Amino acid sequence: MQEVRRHAISMNPAYREINDSKARYLVFWGSAGSGKSVNIARLLVRRLSFGPSGCHWIVLRKTKEANADSTRAELINAMQSTFGDSWREEWDAPASHLTLTNKRNGNSFIFRGMKDEAQREQLKSISVQKGKIVGAWLEEATQFLQSDFQQVDARLRGDLDEGLFYQIILSFNPVSATHWIKRRFFDRVDPDACTCHTTWRDNRFIDDSFRRQMEKMEEIDPEFAQVYGRGEWGSKGGLILTRFRVEAVPKDLDYYDSLSMGHDFGFNHADALLLLGWKDGDLYVIAEHYVNEMTNPQIIKAVEKIDIFAQARKRRVYMICDSAEPDRIREWNVAGWNARPVDKGNGAATSGAIDWLKSRMIYIDESAENTASEAGEWAYKQDRTTGLYTDEPVPINDDAMAALRYGSEPFRIASRRKKRPTLRV
Ligand SMILES: Nc1ncnc2c1ncn2[C@@H]1O[C@H](COP(=O)(O)OP(=O)(O)OP(=O)(O)O)[C@@H](O)[C@H]1O
Ligand SMILES: [Mg+2]
Repeated sequence: MQEVRRHAISMNPAYREINDSKARYLVFWGSAGSGKSVNIARLLVRRLSFGPSGCHWIVLRKTKEANADSTRAELINAMQSTFGDSWREEWDAPASHLTLTNKRNGNSFIFRGMKDEAQREQLKSISVQKGKIVGAWLEEATQFLQSDFQQVDARLRGDLDEGLFYQIILSFNPVSATHWIKRRFFDRVDPDACTCHTTWRDNRFIDDSFRRQMEKMEEIDPEFAQVYGRGEWGSKGGLILTRFRVEAVPKDLDYYDSLSMGHDFGFNHADALLLLGWKDGDLYVIAEHYVNEMTNPQIIKAVEKIDIFAQARKRRVYMICDSAEPDRIREWNVAGWNARPVDKGNGAATSGAIDWLKSRMIYIDESAENTASEAGEWAYKQDRTTGLYTDEPVPINDDAMAALRYGSEPFRIASRRKKRPTLRV
């Protein structure tokens, strides 16, 4: 093979420092058009083309299919700008599958998603012939749950040959200040993370029409301009729960006026079980058990071993469950839990239950990370033509939210009757 012809490529100087960082987490955040995706694609193409062999990166969008015209296209662009017309001599890019492989050293990009169990399964089953998966890029990272991130994080462990290091890259627009990414990387300092904030003003390749558009946006849609123009944490429109806080909540069950559990069954989607408390008119998420791909008997066994849930079981606290699966409810009863179906006739399935939740102050224990992630993103659907929000939630990442709705039914019904709930048996 001939010697590699490497084109001089221009980078935005704002990324110089983060591009050199070997921190475990690189967090690229900021406005639209700030050059994040182009920069990351070029950085990775350079590393995998000219760096050591045995390196493979997983490239993730929440929905696997979205990679084709975003991350994959961006990486191919980066290959073209790095190698010019001869990029195909360096990189193999079969149209039929979602991998890009370097012809000289075998390094590759492997595209995946985490939309559902089938896609998570494909992520788990990746195997590479030579070398290891050393990195993952979560593009539009705000679409992922914290548990998605943790699954990826757990995968990138183990010994590596000298000179190699693990790295996870997150890139996103800061859509909402309630997002788990803000809590994870910004509300506390993580010494393993390097963050870089940019706006389109840092992108010297932006054209005049984009600039004019962004400046106009400041006048006509300040909320949009805050996130996409200035790259500041936004107050996401259409968010359902705006009055919740994530903090350590009391674990002594006697503290609460009343207790309840909510359970949304799942296998492909998460199985979400929440222990809830009610105190002086406020709702508390005391603990969560949130798992994928476990059978009902496996979940029962696992939850029995968690002390705070075992205490709730002993107290015969109601477990209000999705009514669609009576067999599973029966299995919980047989195992000694006070499980019963949610009474959808009472309005549990209507927007009344959601409106009630919205008007509560909700404290979510910091251990209940998935509940906190879902709460920060749970939003109403937007009508595409009018731009108005409907009163129907977007049905994605909503398993803990379903458990929250079911489990808080006893409190809602009691407060509607204007009496103190007396559910502790
Ligand atoms: N290094 C570069 N060289 C040439 N052009 C660039 C470079 N970086 C960015 N651009 C131009 O700026 C545009 C916006 O960059 P990019 O798509 O990376 O922004 P972004 O921060 O990922 O935006 P978004 O938040 O909307 O995803 C690109 O389409 C490209 O035209
Ligand atoms: Mg981008």
